[in-house]
Amino acid sequence: MKLLDDISKLEEQHVLGTYKRQPVVFVRGDGAYLIDSDGKKYLDFLSGIGVAARGHSDRDLTEAIRDQAATLIQVSNLYYHPLQGQAAQLLTSLSGLDRVFFCNSGTEAVEASLKFSRRYWYTQGQTERTEFVALEGAFSGRTFGALSVTHDHHYRDPFAPLVPGVTFVDPKDPAALHSAVTERTAAIIAEPIQGEGGIRPLTKDFASAIKEACNRTGALFIADEVQTGVGRTGYPFYFQALDLHPDLVSVGKALGGGIPIGATICSAKVASHISPGDHGSTYGGNLLACRAAIVILTALADGDLLDQVKSVGMHFERCLRSLALRHPCVTEIRGAGLMRGVQLRVDATSVVDAAREQGLLVNRTDERVLRMLPPLTIDKTDIDCAVDILDKIFDQIDAESSE
Ligand SMILES: Cc1ncc(COP(=O)(O)O)c(C=O)c1O
Repeated sequence: MKLLDDISKLEEQHVLGTYKRQPVVFVRGDGAYLIDSDGKKYLDFLSGIGVAARGHSDRDLTEAIRDQAATLIQVSNLYYHPLQGQAAQLLTSLSGLDRVFFCNSGTEAVEASLKFSRRYWYTQGQTERTEFVALEGAFSGRTFGALSVTHDHHYRDPFAPLVPGVTFVDPKDPAALHSAVTERTAAIIAEPIQGEGGIRPLTKDFASAIKEACNRTGALFIADEVQTGVGRTGYPFYFQALDLHPDLVSVGKALGGGIPIGATICSAKVASHISPGDHGSTYGGNLLACRAAIVILTALADGDLLDQVKSVGMHFERCLRSLALRHPCVTEIRGAGLMRGVQLRVDATSVVDAAREQGLLVNRTDERVLRMLPPLTIDKTDIDCAVDILDKIFDQIDAESSE
């Protein structure tokens, strides 16, 4: 407790208060577990918000990072180094797209997708083609471009005016998309499963409407796979499950397993309109970040990890569905693979707090949704353990609401 008090006081004095922290200090990680400053273990079903794809302190990732740090970390993008091409090759073969731009975060990957979309039309002399169509409930980051295609007014309003020409449509309304996409639309941007918006997969009908709108008008499609990508759903990228064909894909979070790296993958069609100087990043695609990404992507390319995510993910889904049957406080289960949301009748804050006290880390999103993004390497025993903890918490909520 003393350490928590000291650290929180130090932060209050020196760290800008953009985050509200939970009252725990983590000092170590081991696989799917985090250990706090009192030595208490927590089952980590959030993994740094979908980042620690191989859990914590993974041996292969640690060795690769250690070796790379001792060899060479950064040379800038003014020179070649041996790893950027390898990381890009893995991303293109996993996605089926053609070229990769490396940056340092999901937000930057979205920002680059938006810029490359406009550049694509500008190069062809279609300078009026600057607009974007995004979805209600979308979250794509908080820089000006990414924030402009993020829907939540709490994030947007204090920073207006944002990038003009963005129209939001209801993802349950394919006809609204049809009307919104015109010959002035540079690109449609959508998360195949909305993450911050409450773990809400696009429907097949809406995916078809995206394809129809792109075919009709020529608008590009950006799949924001920052949260869904890199194996999270049991597919390399979830646009593949929806049979979508994006021109650009933004990637981040799990890509470096914890080392910051983002990427924008684009089709040859888009890539052919991008020239030196159009975009850049000092750190983007440095050796350390690429080395980490190669460890993560090689495991995906081998196939076993994806099979495991599918099989453990199905087990997780079955367990959550049986919780939903037993507990009136649960109204819906959503998601795919190891990206799961539990829709509750009550605000999820009390569940997050109770779970943490019982040694399980989960997260609240969209007020009444419990979000879970465990490491991709999680096993069924740990899933059962997490579900048991939730079962008891839901018992309590049901008992309270029937009083
Ligand atoms: C779909 C999506 N896009 C973009 C972002 C922004 O990523 P980052 O916070 O790594 O910059 C996020 C973060 O949660 C996200 O979920």
